[in-house]
Amino acid sequence: MAQVKEVKADQLDVNAFIEEKVKEISQAVGSGEAINALSGGVDSSVVTMLGHKALGSRLKTYFINNGLMREGEQEQIVDVFDGLGVKVEVLEAQDKFFNALRGITDPEEKREAITQTFYKDVFGKLVRESGAKYLLQGTILTDIDETVAGIKRQHNVFEQLGIDPEKTFGYKILEPLVQLRKDGVRKVGQALGLPRQMFTRIPFPGPALAARVIGEVTKEKIKTVRVANKVVEEELSSTGAFQYMAILHEDRVTGMRDNKRDFGLQIEVRCWDSVDARVATPTKVSFDVLDTLAKRIVKEVPGVVSVTYNIATKPPSTMEVV
Ligand code: XMP
Repeated sequence: MAQVKEVKADQLDVNAFIEEKVKEISQAVGSGEAINALSGGVDSSVVTMLGHKALGSRLKTYFINNGLMREGEQEQIVDVFDGLGVKVEVLEAQDKFFNALRGITDPEEKREAITQTFYKDVFGKLVRESGAKYLLQGTILTDIDETVAGIKRQHNVFEQLGIDPEKTFGYKILEPLVQLRKDGVRKVGQALGLPRQMFTRIPFPGPALAARVIGEVTKEKIKTVRVANKVVEEELSSTGAFQYMAILHEDRVTGMRDNKRDFGLQIEVRCWDSVDARVATPTKVSFDVLDTLAKRIVKEVPGVVSVTYNIATKPPSTMEVV
């Protein structure tokens, strides 16, 4: 198992780092092509910019619509990158992901189903058909730590699990951000000219909204948690917290609507203060803000009768629920 040497954000010489990574990518890919999937998260956005700097149009960038993304994500990402001179192709794959997730309730099995669908079926097929030998990916050190420690299988960590992507999937993976944590990645993104709204974005996990549904992931549940996440992002962005999210619980609870019993849904809100996602504490959000949030969620998210705010720290919690 290869050891990765951490580069801390305060010790990071951003320009030297960019120069070194651009060189490494250029040398590895040579005159060929590379491919990457852009989700719009900070890590994949920074990798896209690095790859574009190194390879120009020889980097093919795809947005995979897995049906699990946040509201408006696809349009926004295609637009922002278009403005930066990076063409993003959209690949529709919603049905494949929902089919793969059908009937699965165990969190690690859900992660595995997403990984397999992404790397073997959807993206792997694309890479094989394109003839590109390299896949650029935004794995960061926190992803590796948690996978190696057996806490969560981060969907983009292979070498550390002893999986050879070339043998398993037929292509090599380049991971230029692997020595950094989120704070370092943001610095690199800023230096690469990403718009502020992109490099300061709150983190969003690889398994996307599937990481925020407890139990089986269905189209309907994703629709519910998507609206709730939109409301939470709108109401909590003013906190300046590291990350905030809405989670859809599996259990229903008794509620009442229009003087009738309503066996309704529960949304849990989490808002985290953290530097690098390794440890985190719940943000002391004012009760007025929580009050507004709850009112909007029960009004705007169909079927919700209960809204709770998480007050446990990581550890023992993790930031996402899956
Ligand atoms: P947890 O839930 O492990 O999350 O405390 C720590 C940070 O990592 C994000 N996260 C992921 N990021 N792929 C990613 O790229 C993943 O599979 C994944 N799972 C969690 C999470 O949003 C938080 O910022």
